[in-house]
Formats: sequence, structure tokens, C-alpha cells
Amino acid sequence: DLSTLNLDYRFPPLKHDLLLRAAQGEPVERPPVWIMRQAGRYLPEYHQVKGNRNFFECCRDAEIASTITIQPVNHYEGLIDAAIIFSDILVVPQAMGMNVVMIDGKGPHFTDPLRKPEDLQKLTKNVDLIHSLGWAFKSINLTRHKLNGRVPLLGFSGGPWTLLVYMIEGGGSRLFRFAKEWIYKYPKESHQLLSRITDILIEFLALQVKAGAQMLQVFESWAGELGPHEFNEFSLPYLKRITQELPSHLQKLGINPADIPVTIFAKNSWYALNDLCSLGFNCVSLDWSWDPLEAVKLNNNRVTLQGNIDPGVIYGTDEIISKKVEAMIKGFGGGKKNYIINFGHGTHPFMDPEKIRFFLQECHRIGSL
Ligand code: CP3
Repeated sequence: DLSTLNLDYRFPPLKHDLLLRAAQGEPVERPPVWIMRQAGRYLPEYHQVKGNRNFFECCRDAEIASTITIQPVNHYEGLIDAAIIFSDILVVPQAMGMNVVMIDGKGPHFTDPLRKPEDLQKLTKNVDLIHSLGWAFKSINLTRHKLNGRVPLLGFSGGPWTLLVYMIEGGGSRLFRFAKEWIYKYPKESHQLLSRITDILIEFLALQVKAGAQMLQVFESWAGELGPHEFNEFSLPYLKRITQELPSHLQKLGINPADIPVTIFAKNSWYALNDLCSLGFNCVSLDWSWDPLEAVKLNNNRVTLQGNIDPGVIYGTDEIISKKVEAMIKGFGGGKKNYIINFGHGTHPFMDPEKIRFFLQECHRIGSL
């Protein structure tokens, strides 16, 4: 029951809705810009606030998570058009009963990954999200209030396939041998797991909106590890369930689904773009393997496209950053409609915050032309 969380639903009015308008396909004065992993290790103030705490401890502390979420909005005052809640896609496997630790400099580690179908029995039977992820809803609620309407707040989740991969591999991977063993040796059980994950994701996303998230993004980061046929079997149907079933879950919570744009980022799944544009998402986020011109043509104004500059450009000269930003915005048709600027994937810890500032300034300058 949500009421046990004592959330405050009297939200301050949104003073800057550029992102939401672009996501809804309305014409805009310039394309909005935000950056995946905009809160994180490249910002000195992130390390300051995080101190010696471990990553998940920071996520679970609403005061710390909200502070970190707002850091890039403050650092780049007036240059960033959204905040994304500081959390992780791996909190859902935790809610399903798995133990995940974040090893500094190495990434996530599951102490007991699902290696055989029998391991499915280890998962929690009746996941109670309000109980297990109550902290996430409190953190979103506090952050929305602290943002005071400066920019919209994004909630997010992993995609079903990406979460299956982490739950089976137990961490990042190069060969994906365990996840591949599941889909090719235990397809029935793989579908059972995907289906259970999807049920929980839909509820999790809806509750994030109830708590204060104004837009959502689904990160299907490992999409590109599947070929087109396997993507159509093990990812696409579950992404479709999200777009089909989320609206009624939102309605039950008293929210108009039409007010909440949803973005899909299915990294490296170039073959899937046509389907992704028809699945019911408002926005499709692209990695840098796409030539914007080609993506725009294929999309044919069905959704708002997001992306897609190679984050590595931040290591380049100002002159080249400007050129690449210009080419990207032009490629996406000038950015006055159906476009949100983002990186093709997240920031790196080694990036110079001043270079990112220059990138953002150029997005504003060129996007306003
Ligand atoms: O600023 C934001 O984008 C919001 C917060 C956010 C984080 N993770 C914080 C984080 C978001 C949206 C995510 C999503 C996420 N987490 C994804 C999907 C996006 C993507 O990158 O493909 C994935 C695959 C994860 C899983 C995950 N979390 C990995 C593989 C790692 C380790 C790699 C790394 O960058 O260190 C994390 C850790 C993590 N999540 C950090 C942050 C800021 C670094 C933690 C730290 O050491 O301080």
C-alpha cells in the first residue's frame, strides 16, 4: 500500500516543459538535451557526496540520491533540460530476491546468479515493490519536490532481456555464455523469467510515476547481443507488453497515461528500429551506430528520436565537438520537432565536465538556429 510511504503529491508546477513537449511530438524552439549517466563519477561533487559509501547505499538514501540527481542540473544551470533519478536498473533483481553488490571500478556483481532453471525457485514468489523498493519511491518524491519544477524528472527501468542477462550472468559479460545457454537450451524457462521480470517492471514504472516521475525510459542495454530473430523472441514481445499494459496500471493510480511519455533505448539493435517505432513508445533512443538521416527516414515521424552522438566526442577538440553537434542536429532534421539530444550511451568517469559544458552550450546554440 503506497500510503505507508507518506509521499507528498502536491507537486510544484513545472516551469520548464521543453523535454515533455518534444517527447509528445510538439514543435519546440530548440531540441531539449539531457545525457545518460549525467549524474555520476565525472563530476567532482558526486565523489564529494558519495564519500566512502557504496553505490546502492547512496541510491537508498533519499537525501543523497536526490542531491546527486540534481547535481548536473545545478552544475550546468540552464543547460540541461531533464533530471534522471539516481538509482540503477539492478534494483529490480534485488526486489526479486537477488543479492547484488557494486564493486568500485568493476561494476555490479550478483553473489548467486541464476545458472539453471531450478534456480528460478530462489526468486521471491510475491514481490512487494512498496516494501522492497519503497526507498526508490521516496527518493523520486523528494527529488521532484527539491527540483521545484526547474526540469522534469525521469524515472527508468532496465529492459526485461537486459535484466535477465544480469540475473543469469551475474554481472557484465563479453561472451554472454550463460544467458545464451538459457535462451538456446531453456527457452521455456527463459520466457517464464522474462515474463516475471516484465510484470514487475510494469508495476515499478507505474509506481515511479505515482511517486513523481514525469517521463520514463527503459534501458534495454544488451539488446545488441541478440540477433534479429532472437530479439523478436526474447525482447520485443516483452517491451510491447510494457507499452500495452503500463497505461492501465497508471490509470489505476489516478494518472493519465497520455501525460507520461516513455522512451525505449535498445542499444545496438539497429535491425529493430522499424518495430520499435511502432511499439507504442513515444520516443526511441539511438546509439551512435545510426546515421541520423537514415533513422529519421525509417521513423517517418512515428516517434520522437533521441540521441545519438558518440560520447567519445567529449575527448575531442572544441572545433570537432561543434562540427559533430551540428551534423547530428541537422541529421535529425534541425531539432524543432520529434527530437531530443542525448549521447548514444552514457558519460564516462574520465570525461572533463567543462567539455560537457561546451557540448551542452553548442547544443543550445546550434539547436536554436
Ligand atoms: O545519471 C543517470 O543516468 C541516472 C542513474 C543511472 C545509473 N545507472 C547510475 C549508476 C542509470 C539510469 C543507470 C542505468 C544502468 N545501470 C544501466 C543502463 C544504462 C547503460 O549504461 O547501459 C545499466 C546497464 C546499469 C548497470 C550498471 N550500474 C553497471 C554495468 C554499472 C557499472 C559500470 C559503471 O559505469 O561503473 C553500474 C554502476 C552505476 N550506475 C554507477 C552509476 C553512477 C557508477 C557507480 C559508482 O561507482 O559510483
